[in-house]
Amino acid sequence: MIVTSAPGKVILFGEHAVVYDKLGIVSAVDIRCRVEVIPVAGNKIFIKSNKYNSESSFSKKELFTFYYHIKELVRGRKFNDIEEIYKKDKLAPVFFVLASIFNRYGFKGTEIIINSNIPKGLGSSSAVFSALSLAALKILIPNKISKKEVSGFSYQGDIIAHGGHPSGIDNNAVTYGGYLKYRKSEGFEALRGMPRIDLLIVDSGEQSRTSETVSLVRKMRDNNPGFVNPILDSLNKISGRAVKALKFKDMKRLGGFMVSYYKKLRELGVSTGGLDNIIEISLREGALGAKPTGGWGGGCCLILVEDLKRKETIIKKLKKGNFRVFSIKTASEGVKLHTG
Ligand code: MEV
Repeated sequence: MIVTSAPGKVILFGEHAVVYDKLGIVSAVDIRCRVEVIPVAGNKIFIKSNKYNSESSFSKKELFTFYYHIKELVRGRKFNDIEEIYKKDKLAPVFFVLASIFNRYGFKGTEIIINSNIPKGLGSSSAVFSALSLAALKILIPNKISKKEVSGFSYQGDIIAHGGHPSGIDNNAVTYGGYLKYRKSEGFEALRGMPRIDLLIVDSGEQSRTSETVSLVRKMRDNNPGFVNPILDSLNKISGRAVKALKFKDMKRLGGFMVSYYKKLRELGVSTGGLDNIIEISLREGALGAKPTGGWGGGCCLILVEDLKRKETIIKKLKKGNFRVFSIKTASEGVKLHTG
């Protein structure tokens, strides 16, 4: 049996803008998912998952038929069809990751157990894809595994989970860990010597809808580039300034940039009542900064508070509003092998 784990991630700055080759800053966080892969006899894949709350199986033939179907949809840029497949089957990207690996290195019957407590919006899907890729590769090519390849297979899952158009920030974040600066055309750069910071994560309780919000922004940009492109340029500038503030540990400025990012991206219609409410409560009670993270359209917010007393008040107020709150630390370790 092979056991692996991968961290969740927070996009500090750059979500949505990174899809259009703008700057993103991301960090792995100290909440992990765990994947077990057990080779079994025969031509079947079995998956059990607490994250997707399901059990499912695929024969070798079904797996490859599905794989070529998705490949065809991607080639034809049929993103709406991909989104529909994902809506109907949340395990579809997991099977696509496996099929991509088996297509390159040969099929192996396996049983897979996925355990994850990473909330939606914190890279929960990418973490599963990355941990799963490392485990499957450990069975197939134990001595030739590279993080680049693990991240590449994890990207295949995000093609479905992000509606056909992922930037690549999530798979890199959870695979490499630490802080990364990311631009689609240039890839990532590890940001070293950055402070490990504490953040509050607040779950809006609304399902994050990354594939839908990514499609929404894409369609809006296709129809009205004159409105959307200047917003993406502003987001890029905010992210660039935020890297400097983080480097110099200027938390007040960093918080200010979080709020600017929130206000700017909100203009594209990807926020929700729940997310807006969390930001409003947090800022009213003295947080240095607050913004949603990940795909928006639900999911989680990041709150930056340095003062302990204020932190307690904010947590109390948010819990009163029925939001789930927890503390995380940035700059955690990327995907790793535990046994096998
Ligand atoms: C989702 O975690 C981040 C988005 O920017 C999509 C992507 O980068 O692929 C919304």
